[in-house]
Amino acid sequence: MSLLFTPVEIGSSRARNRLWVAPMCQYSATDGMPNTWHLTHLAAFATGGAGLVMTEATAVSPEGRISPDDTGIWNDAQRDAWRPIAAEIRARGALAAIQLAHAGRKASTWSPLTAGTGTVPDAAGGWQALAPSPVAYDGYATPQQLDTDGIAKVIADFGAAARRSVDAGFDVLEVHAAHGYLLHEFLSPLSNQRTDEYGGSLANRARLLLEVLDAVRAAAPATAVMVRFSATDWADGGWDLADTTTVAAWAAERGAVFVDISSGGLVAHQRLVVGPGYQVPFAREVREKAGVPVAAVGLITTGTQAEEVLRSGAADAVMAGREWLRDPHFALRAATELGAEIDYWPPQYERARIRRAS
Ligand SMILES: Cc1cc2nc3c(=O)[nH]c(=O)nc-3n(C[C@H](O)[C@H](O)[C@H](O)COP(=O)(O)O)c2cc1C
Repeated sequence: MSLLFTPVEIGSSRARNRLWVAPMCQYSATDGMPNTWHLTHLAAFATGGAGLVMTEATAVSPEGRISPDDTGIWNDAQRDAWRPIAAEIRARGALAAIQLAHAGRKASTWSPLTAGTGTVPDAAGGWQALAPSPVAYDGYATPQQLDTDGIAKVIADFGAAARRSVDAGFDVLEVHAAHGYLLHEFLSPLSNQRTDEYGGSLANRARLLLEVLDAVRAAAPATAVMVRFSATDWADGGWDLADTTTVAAWAAERGAVFVDISSGGLVAHQRLVVGPGYQVPFAREVREKAGVPVAAVGLITTGTQAEEVLRSGAADAVMAGREWLRDPHFALRAATELGAEIDYWPPQYERARIRRAS
């Protein structure tokens, strides 16, 4: 029996298996509107057997985009453009999830698909980035410190985006609190130097994330909410694994039903140690200490490896990014590799079905 191909509950939703698609920016939107690229890209993973397909980081406000080419869900036209995408993912048997994001001090940067690097100037369509404190990410423009009204707007924007996401047909919402974007910037003492109730102690630095969670839960009370954390900044004096386990438990108390454990992205001088499954030990620690279901991610590239992550008790689900880009039918292949019987091999592709020789 394969654990990877056993269904799992995410709050009131149920994923058909535990091999999920991680959020991946496509830098292919205009005015935040998803288009046929996003439709075909995301739907293919559902065809390929994913249990859950998550959209790229989707901005809750225009200034919350990483690049001018990011998707958004800050208006109703974007909600309507997401609707057929969520419907197509669901029609092909996967849960449709959306990652709700605000890029904070890493906003208004050139997409990697363009020739530019660093901050996009105003004259080229850039905008003022916002952050907990006026502390720049190395090589980027200095952000503007959010005042109390600005913080209230961020919370309201996440709530409104959550409502639109439910109306667009998404089953699961993920609050992006990782990779050095706004909510992570509040969590980490390296980027949060505030002296008000949003800075200083761990409880104060976690306040914005928890208030965002409250707003998301209030706007979407029947929908499963996940949080993505960076488990460590990989830098002296930064956010670390102990902080992550504490705040993941607080997030669970506030209604998060799953957390997704990544790492890094806050500072350019991070000292990352990368290798196969390199973030799995972080997922295990959070799962054991915070008592919340966990998805592991990061260089998990085969069915056998993903199965082992689950069997070892490190996680409840596995997310992959790049392996799905290499093979949008990763889950079909993994099922064959593990000898798992699945009833969602697309009938249109039946003649290509691989049966394990044994
Ligand atoms: C093209 C690309 C875009 C990404 N965009 C996002 C994103 O929008 N949000 C996010 O949280 N992580 C993003 N990531 C990180 C992935 O979700 C994932 O955590 C990372 O790639 C490690 O998993 P992998 O080794 O299976 O690719 C991106 C990664 C790639 C390769």
